[in-house]
Amino acid sequence: MHCIKKITDDLTWIGVNDRRLAMFEGVYHVPRGVAYNSYLLRDEKTVLFDTVDKAVRQRFLENLSEALGGRQLDYIVVQHMEPDHSASILELLSMYPGMKLVCNEKTYAFIKQFHDYDDDSRVIIVREGDTLETGRHTLRFIMAPMVHWPEVMVTYDATDKVLFSADAFGCFGALNGALFADEVDFEKEYMDEARRYYANIVGKYGAQAGALLDKTASLEISYLCPLHGFVWRRNIGDFIAKYALWSSYSPEENGVLIAYASVYGNTENTAEILAYKLRDKGIRSVMYDVSVSPASDIVSEAFRWSHIVLASTTYNAGVFVTMESVVNDLVSHNIQNRTVAIIENGSWAATSGELIREKLEDCRNINILDSAISLKSSLKPSQLAEVDMLADAIAATFPARAAPIVVAPEMIDPKTMFKLSYGLFVLTTKDGEKDNGCITNTAIQISEKPRRISLAVNKANFSCEMLMKTGVFNVSILAENAPFSVFERFGFHSGRDTDKFSGIEGSHRTDNGVRYLPEFANAVISGRVVETSDNGSHILFVADVTQAMVISNERSVTYQYYFDHIKPKPKPQAEKKAGYVCKICGYVHEGDTLPDDFICPLCKHGASDFEKITA
Ligand code: FEO
Repeated sequence: MHCIKKITDDLTWIGVNDRRLAMFEGVYHVPRGVAYNSYLLRDEKTVLFDTVDKAVRQRFLENLSEALGGRQLDYIVVQHMEPDHSASILELLSMYPGMKLVCNEKTYAFIKQFHDYDDDSRVIIVREGDTLETGRHTLRFIMAPMVHWPEVMVTYDATDKVLFSADAFGCFGALNGALFADEVDFEKEYMDEARRYYANIVGKYGAQAGALLDKTASLEISYLCPLHGFVWRRNIGDFIAKYALWSSYSPEENGVLIAYASVYGNTENTAEILAYKLRDKGIRSVMYDVSVSPASDIVSEAFRWSHIVLASTTYNAGVFVTMESVVNDLVSHNIQNRTVAIIENGSWAATSGELIREKLEDCRNINILDSAISLKSSLKPSQLAEVDMLADAIAATFPARAAPIVVAPEMIDPKTMFKLSYGLFVLTTKDGEKDNGCITNTAIQISEKPRRISLAVNKANFSCEMLMKTGVFNVSILAENAPFSVFERFGFHSGRDTDKFSGIEGSHRTDNGVRYLPEFANAVISGRVVETSDNGSHILFVADVTQAMVISNERSVTYQYYFDHIKPKPKPQAEKKAGYVCKICGYVHEGDTLPDDFICPLCKHGASDFEKITA
C-alpha cells in the first residue's frame, strides 16, 4: 500500500523509510534507520526527482503510481547517481516509454557505468543554469560537484521556491510519521544525526559544500528537499547556518572531544583525570572509547568541538588499531581548524604519540600542543603534574572568559550609550506573502572575507520572529532626506497587526524577494543569516551579504541627525503628566515609576530609552 505525503499542491513526497539497514554504505551504523527521499512534481508535465534504494523499491513504485494518479511520467531528474537514489531508473524507462531522463554529462557517464544503457534519444543533458519548463513550474539546474559525488546537481523550482538539494541538508534516521523538520524537535532529537550525516558523507568536501551555499545564497527558499531526512519549510536559515559552519570546518562549540584507546584502562584513566581537571577550569568535554564507539560518531563530534584530545596506547609498535582507524578517518574527512593534544602509552617503546602527530600534520590549521603526556603502563603520582600542565595548556587556548559580575546600577549612566554613533536603517523581511519592516540602528559590517554584517533585533519585534524563521532580509540605509513619516511608518507600529507597506506604490524587491526602500534610502544590503546568538533582550544575527546596491548619493542619516533634524521637537504642554517619555518615539508612560524591563509598546525600545517628565 502506498504511503505518500503532499508538500505543496503540486509536489508530493514519495520516498520510503528503511529501518532494517544495519550499515549505511556498508560503514555507517544507522540504528534509527534512514529515509530515501524521492519527490513527484505534477504540472502540465510530470517530473520525478531521483528514486530510492533497491531494498525499498517495491513500496516506491506503489508510491509513484499513486502520486501519478494514472498519468504518465514525463521526466526523471537524476540529481545523484549513487545507487541508493538511482536503483529504479532502468525499470522506470521501460515502464514509462515516453519518459525522458534529465541529467548532466557526468551523470550520464555514471548511468552507463552502472547500467547497460546507451539510448541517447531519451536523455536530456543539462548544464549549469539550464532550465526545464514543465507548465507552471520552471526548474533550474545548479551543479554541485563533490557534494558527495562529482555528478551531483541540485534543482531550484522558481515557482514554489523549492530547492531539491540532493545530499546537501540530509540527515540519518527514518521519518517516523513526520516529513517536515518542524514537526519534531529537530535540535534535540536529530541535530546529532544531521551532523553525523554531514561530517561523514560530505565532510571531506567542505569547499564544495561552501560553493553550493554561495551559489544558492540569493535564492528564496520556501522548501528544502534533500535526498535523506526531513523536508524543511521553517527555520531554513538556521539549518543553512549549520552548514556554513560545518563546510568551513568551524567548530560549533568550545569544548574538548576526548577520544581514547585503552587496552587495560590506564590510558583511559589518564584521559578521565584530564577531563575532570578541565571541568574544574570550566571547560566542557565529551569522552569516547574508540574501541566501543563507532568511528562515525567520533568524526561527527570532531566537527562539533573546538578541541580534540587523542589518547592511545602503543600496539604492534604503532598506534592502537581502533585509534589508528579514527585518526585516518579524521584526516580523510579533512578535519581542520582544531587544537589537538596527545597522550600516548607504551610499556616498553611508546610510539603512538609521534605517529598520531605525523598523521595530523597533513591537516590544515591543526594546532598540536607541545604539551603532551607519555605514559609507561600507567599514570604515577609523580606524573599528575603533567596532567595539570596539559590541562593548563589546553585552557590557555580557550578564549578568556570573565566570571559573571554584578554591576552596581550607579556604575552605568545609560546616556553613555547615546554617545556611540549609529546609523538608522529599515530592516525588511518577508515570510510567504507577508512583507514587514522595522527601524533598527544596529547594522554594522563585521568582516570583509566573507562579507558579513551583524544586526541586533529586539525579541519583542515581529521582525525578529520573521527573521528567526526565514533567515533572509534587507537593510535599507536611511538617508538624511528621510522624513519623520518613514520612522513613524516602520518604527511606531507592529507588523503583527499592520501592513507596513500599505499605501506605498510599487513593490521594489532585491533578488531574495524581500522589499526595500527605493526612496529615502541611499543603499540596500541583502543578507542571509548564518549565525544567531541570544543576548537577553536582543537576538544578534550574523549574516552573509548576498546583494548590495547603492541607490543615491544622499548622506546616511545618523542617530544624532535624526534627533537634531528629523524628530519633531516636543510641543509645549499646558499640563504635564507625571510619567516617562520614550525618547525614540514620544510615547508617554504615565506613573511615578518605570519598571526596568519596560518595553515601549510603540517602538519596542527599552526602559533606558525613556526619560522622566519633569515639571
Ligand atoms: Fe544517499 Fe550520496 O547519497
